[in-house]
Amino acid sequence: MTALTLSTAAAPGLRADAIVIGVAKGAQGPVVAPGAEAVDKAYDGKLAGILETLGASGAEGELTKLPAPAGFKAPLVVAVGLGAVPDGPDGTDADAGYDAEALRKAAGVAARALTGTRKAAFALPVDGPGAIGAIGEGVLLGAYSFDAYKGGAQDAGNAKAKNGKAGNGKAPLAEAAVLGGKPRDAAHKGALARAVAVCEELNRARDLINMPPNDLTPAAFAGIAQTAAKEHGIKVQVLDDKALAKGGYGGILGVGGGSAATPRLVKLSYRHPKADKHLAFVGKGITYDSGGISLKPAGHNETMKCDMSGAAAVFAAVVAAARLGLEVNVTGWLALAENMPSGTAVRPGDVLRMYSGKTVEVLNTDAEGRLVLADALWAASQETPDAIVDVATLTGAMMLALGSRTFGVMANDDAFRTTVYEAAEEVGEPAWPMPLPEHLRKGMDSPVADIANMGERMGGGLVAGLFLREFVGEGITWAHLDIAGPAFNEGGPFGYTPKGGTGTAVRTLVRLAELTAAGDLG
Ligand code: BES
Ligand code: MN
Ligand code: ZN
Repeated sequence: MTALTLSTAAAPGLRADAIVIGVAKGAQGPVVAPGAEAVDKAYDGKLAGILETLGASGAEGELTKLPAPAGFKAPLVVAVGLGAVPDGPDGTDADAGYDAEALRKAAGVAARALTGTRKAAFALPVDGPGAIGAIGEGVLLGAYSFDAYKGGAQDAGNAKAKNGKAGNGKAPLAEAAVLGGKPRDAAHKGALARAVAVCEELNRARDLINMPPNDLTPAAFAGIAQTAAKEHGIKVQVLDDKALAKGGYGGILGVGGGSAATPRLVKLSYRHPKADKHLAFVGKGITYDSGGISLKPAGHNETMKCDMSGAAAVFAAVVAAARLGLEVNVTGWLALAENMPSGTAVRPGDVLRMYSGKTVEVLNTDAEGRLVLADALWAASQETPDAIVDVATLTGAMMLALGSRTFGVMANDDAFRTTVYEAAEEVGEPAWPMPLPEHLRKGMDSPVADIANMGERMGGGLVAGLFLREFVGEGITWAHLDIAGPAFNEGGPFGYTPKGGTGTAVRTLVRLAELTAAGDLG
């Protein structure tokens, strides 16, 4: 991963391959953002005009390269768009800061464009630790690439080529200095360290999502979780198929029964000696979703290795919480199974006895996520945590409703749903609150079992949420994030989001853990 440093150095004397500056969209054309004063001065104060001549407007996502002015040690200036010049609430505040997400995106765009470069200095507007954290995150997330399976890498299972180079021969940006950050300021250092811990784990989640399902089986995922947990002082327990059978985990066993790669339930317990709150995170970990006997048609299964994105997010968030030493207890539950059709697979018409004791009539084996989550939610409930948050690529319906960049937030508590939604917004993860309409429950009535795993087609994402709600322990606050849209980016990269696995929800979960530690949970 890119090495981050803080630097108070002035741009002209910096030994780097590029200086990154910000350009915003003003009423009369592009405006050079704060942080780039020395660079502008070296162009005789004409930088805004030069940028305009080159076609720059300051729009978000825009990138303009220009030769550095005479006398600069770095040869290249990279101007990235920050969007509109910020305005105070009354529209007149000239000192209003750039918002964190604009900085994150701009830093990400620049880091992505600087692939193959050794060192860059980021001279973006910095008005405090928040901005430093955002720039750090943008750089680390934007510089990400998944190259383990390209260019004859020998250690593919470890998800990084030995020489650290991408299959196209270009290494990610090796070093980034954040200018305006004070290396001896505790708040500045802390913001950068937080960005490093969160983004390293988030990028690990991306690696897991991108890893092909022939390598990332439930057992392999559990093994990776075990190794990481030991490294960070997290207690880990893995239930294999035998232990799951003994414990009566009918949902996870039913879904995993069709695959030669047997299912696992992983429990990760991070404990802080002074914590008085306990959060449980539950992740859907279908390492491949073929649909099972209700097989998905071609065109719908090519990206289904991403169906473990919820478990990857939970794993990353628990490890990040441990690395940050947050004063809160966090338990992560990874419900891992591969959904495959075979002679031992669950059939439409089968009835499963779940870990909670409830029976479920399986009408569609492609509605498998809710079955593995039901067991994990019930297991999580046995410890009566203060709140449970589950994360899952659960329904195509949520994608239809919210598109490919926004996840839906459902909950059994309106205040908690708002807390989760606001935490997501704060960290720059697009999310939207969704309801759990009671009238949709009766569509899941079954003539033979307590509930069916399918209901009305309309509002399918909400139906799935209502199903999950039945497996949350009485009186426990719970929220459900349906990340089917944003988990996997099938289009080109944008901002700090790469193609493929995105790591969505990791930052929301970490933020929730921080809020809980601070006693600010709604
Ligand atoms: N993993 C899918 C949902 C999904 C779809 C995730 C597209 C990411 C992108 C899930 O297991 C599924 O197949 N859901 C079905 C449920 C239906 C059978 C009730 C769906 O949404 O079609
Ligand atoms: Mn499915
Ligand atoms: Zn699925």
